[in-house]
Amino acid sequence: MAPRKIIIDTDPGQDDAVAILLAFGSSELEVLGITCVAGNVPLALTQRNARIICELAGRTDIPVFAGAVRPMVRPLVTAENVHGKSGLNGPELWEPTMPLRKEHAVDFIVKTLRTQRDGVVTLCVLGPLTNIALALIKAPDIAEHIHEIVLMGGGCFEGGNITPAAEFNIYVDPHAAKVVFQSGIPLVVMPLDLTHKALTTRSRIERFKNLGNKAGIFTAEMLDFFERFDMEKYGSEGAPLHDPNVIAYLLKPEMYKGREVNIEIETESALTMGMTVVDWWRVSGREPNAMFMREVDDDAFFELLFERIGRL
Ligand code: RIB
Ligand code: CA
Repeated sequence: MAPRKIIIDTDPGQDDAVAILLAFGSSELEVLGITCVAGNVPLALTQRNARIICELAGRTDIPVFAGAVRPMVRPLVTAENVHGKSGLNGPELWEPTMPLRKEHAVDFIVKTLRTQRDGVVTLCVLGPLTNIALALIKAPDIAEHIHEIVLMGGGCFEGGNITPAAEFNIYVDPHAAKVVFQSGIPLVVMPLDLTHKALTTRSRIERFKNLGNKAGIFTAEMLDFFERFDMEKYGSEGAPLHDPNVIAYLLKPEMYKGREVNIEIETESALTMGMTVVDWWRVSGREPNAMFMREVDDDAFFELLFERIGRL
């Protein structure tokens, strides 16, 4: 069977980096390109970090593009307190030598979707949705060429992680999220309700460290740093490993359970800005527009990560 074609839109970020490594370790997927967005850290760092991950995995053949330097309307909010100043704190980093492509990420997304016309490309969105929304605004015709969008973002019963109401990716660019959630494109959402059930633990980090390859050690060093913030905040044994769930869903969808629901994005209230209003009990009468995942087989998820990152 031909590999599934994907574009990864990302703001690395340690968890983004693990998601990218998972994709590189999986022959079922063909990564057409990596498009970077401002989010966890400014764009200059997210695009640099994406190239570091490509070099780490020996995948300098993958084109990396820089996209939006800030959200569509709101000022940029970053998360150095979680990811560190570099966005990839933990392992020793280097200045990547593979080039950043000159084409803007949005233009790459539009061009790729127009040339891969038979609607086979899946967009895997790991950060704020700014690049995706800008592409849909610039070229509305691309919507029909997108197989589906699988994104990490939002929350419902789990609340928010950057405000009591909002998850970071949606909060940073709620206007972009609104464009995507109103697009009619098939959406699969990996929210905090799900990712908070996929926790790094000491034994799982040890497993990465003992994979016997550079990628495994690099992953363990990233997660060692990444987990400290959430363990302190939630008092949990480990940190939620958010973004790799997007890629894992493409590889083993049976690990996930959810429900088709209506999700609207709050873009008016200062108090609940960026909230994903999830109609889980179907009381609004609004049409479902997304598959909202709530359950994951976390042991199977981590076994997949060990197996695939172990291949790099
Ligand atoms: O709220 C978690 C999300 O925000 C993850 O994608 C993490 O990388 C940050 O971008
Ligand atoms: Ca991310």
